[in-house]
Amino acid sequence: MLNSNIRGFAFDTEMKPKILITRELFPQTLATLAQHFDVSGNQDDVPFTAQQMMQHLADKAGVLVVGGDRIDAAAIAAAPQLKVIANCAVGYNNVDVAAASARRILVTNTPGVLDETTADLTWALMFAAARGVTERERFVRSGKWESIRFIRNLGLDVHGATLGIIGMGRIGQAVARRAAGFNMRVIYSNRARLGSDIERACNASYVEKAELLRQADFVTLHMPYSAENHHLIGAKEIALMQPSAVLINAARGGIVDELALIDALKNKRIAAAGIDVFENEPKVRPEFFALDNVVLLPHIGSATTGTRRKMADLAAQNLIAGLTTGTAPNLVNG
Ligand code: GLV
Repeated sequence: MLNSNIRGFAFDTEMKPKILITRELFPQTLATLAQHFDVSGNQDDVPFTAQQMMQHLADKAGVLVVGGDRIDAAAIAAAPQLKVIANCAVGYNNVDVAAASARRILVTNTPGVLDETTADLTWALMFAAARGVTERERFVRSGKWESIRFIRNLGLDVHGATLGIIGMGRIGQAVARRAAGFNMRVIYSNRARLGSDIERACNASYVEKAELLRQADFVTLHMPYSAENHHLIGAKEIALMQPSAVLINAARGGIVDELALIDALKNKRIAAAGIDVFENEPKVRPEFFALDNVVLLPHIGSATTGTRRKMADLAAQNLIAGLTTGTAPNLVNG
């Protein structure tokens, strides 16, 4: 039997387990998966509604979840044959892991391949926020620039500043290592203090979160989203920061209380922010659009060709292992 339900693909599907790929993916990854599975894709890249997701999952043994698509308890309940959920991201708060585990469904993620790329983007946000890069670029494009103004368009120095990293896992450490090139002091807070070898490699000193917020010129967040981390940075925490400080979030939206951040930016309680992730993506609070001291990006932390290829390959290998051997690398079930 030939199946051509992925646009541009036709392949033999005799007796192969059925899988769903929720959004557009590299043709090479589709071809690899098609060697093992009867693949239903979504190369049009239009996100499924919750109802459509349930319909698509009804007869699937596996799903490769792309673009943070939600696989909630209702979707899992609507998928009686589901055995593996391979999330194509390191964060997996879009998947109801407890509901999956209760059904013994394997859930995997893609750790380790996107740390450096996400750290690069964090630095892009830091520089852009410190120097008002996007706001000033919009000004040049407006055609209104008439002369260099010596005491206008002034930003903040990144070099020599104190960098405060909250969440010192792989990505936080990759951010820290880059700071040496800018002669920065690095402080971090984390659930647990790291070993002295890692602290030395990152040239970073451990402090309590409140102390970090008081001391840092740049505060950057690098922890997964969880119920405990919900609004970890709110009005109380922002109040501890210096008025000249910059907040960077390339982790997950729900970690920052957006209304508190908007209020702080509006009232210059802090100087600026750089944000790649939002509480209700892809919806962005319109109050952000009125602020010129915030840089806004559409969740592109890991978005380079090389890294997205590695993530897709890893998610595909997780799915193949899970459905062919009954276990998989990169499991996140507790
Ligand atoms: C991206 O946000 C990821 O979690 O991989």
